[in-house]
Amino acid sequence: MKATYRVLTPQDLDNGEITSQTFALEVLTGLSENPKRLQSKYFYDDEGSRLFQQIMALPEYYLTRCERDILTQRRQDIAGHIAAQPFLLVELGAGDGQKTRILIDHFLHRRLSFTYVPVDISEGAMQTLTTTLSREFPQLDADGVVAEYFDGLKWLSAQTDHRKLVLFLGSNIGNFNRPQAKHFLRSLWNSLNDGDIVLIGFDLKKDIDLMLKAYNDSRGITAAFNFNLLKRINRELGGDFDIGKFRFYASYDVFSGAIESYLVSLEAQTVPIKSIGQSFRFKPWEPIHMEYSYKFLPSDIEELAQETGYTILQHLTDPQGYFSDSIWRVNKT
Ligand code: AVI
Repeated sequence: MKATYRVLTPQDLDNGEITSQTFALEVLTGLSENPKRLQSKYFYDDEGSRLFQQIMALPEYYLTRCERDILTQRRQDIAGHIAAQPFLLVELGAGDGQKTRILIDHFLHRRLSFTYVPVDISEGAMQTLTTTLSREFPQLDADGVVAEYFDGLKWLSAQTDHRKLVLFLGSNIGNFNRPQAKHFLRSLWNSLNDGDIVLIGFDLKKDIDLMLKAYNDSRGITAAFNFNLLKRINRELGGDFDIGKFRFYASYDVFSGAIESYLVSLEAQTVPIKSIGQSFRFKPWEPIHMEYSYKFLPSDIEELAQETGYTILQHLTDPQGYFSDSIWRVNKT
């Protein structure tokens, strides 16, 4: 058995896209808008992935703890939906694969026939993941893919012969707005076959203070996670952001149902970005919108499944009702 990975190249994807140019273009577009914005998908370079792992270990970040409990308590139910034939266990946004180890361990104990396919944008995270998995589970067959979600999905649609269980854990879906979430779910549906199974983690709406604490942690790791994107722009695009001239701010929007994160300029300033060939002016207290983390009602989850071609098989929820892992079946008939 082996645990390896491949980095998807523009040739693999047949779109000739050059990633760093896309990054520069999206930074240019976002910082030229009013209000200014950056896309949270760019948080996850190697440093950002390390910081996110620290966030997941924070006492305030209940999401990870709840989902780990659900997967531990309900791993038999999950296996029951897919156990009959050999399958690919695909994980979109695998990170350190911490929670997935619970399922991998259980599936191996039951001697299920499967290959684990982690998909992640960070090659550093993928390298660590495949190395530790080979050590921990020498009998595991793992074949990782370094790519963005949508490129990972394109790759996935070529794997037509295999039955699949696709994991999209951690409420990653909450970082999309509703139209983006639907687009993502339809693209996923399009890459899969009738009867394939997806398991999606949703952070549920709950006490506002509890949600706010998860994004305003006392150690400031979430702030560092946001600042890392400005540092990334400095590193990769020759930007000149002075981190000390911004503050992190996260709030809950009761209308949209999302935690929204910002970096706020503490003074009037102009920030040049060399490889874009442009400077960006900030007024005092001007925000950059950094991230949406949408929260869901069970009825939102049902609506999403219904509108994008899936049948809900099971909602798995922790005893406090904070988080839901929802198991869906792909409908193509
Ligand atoms: C990955 N994603 C679901 C996390 C979230 O909760 O929105 C990212 C994160 N941002 C701040 N803390 C964690």
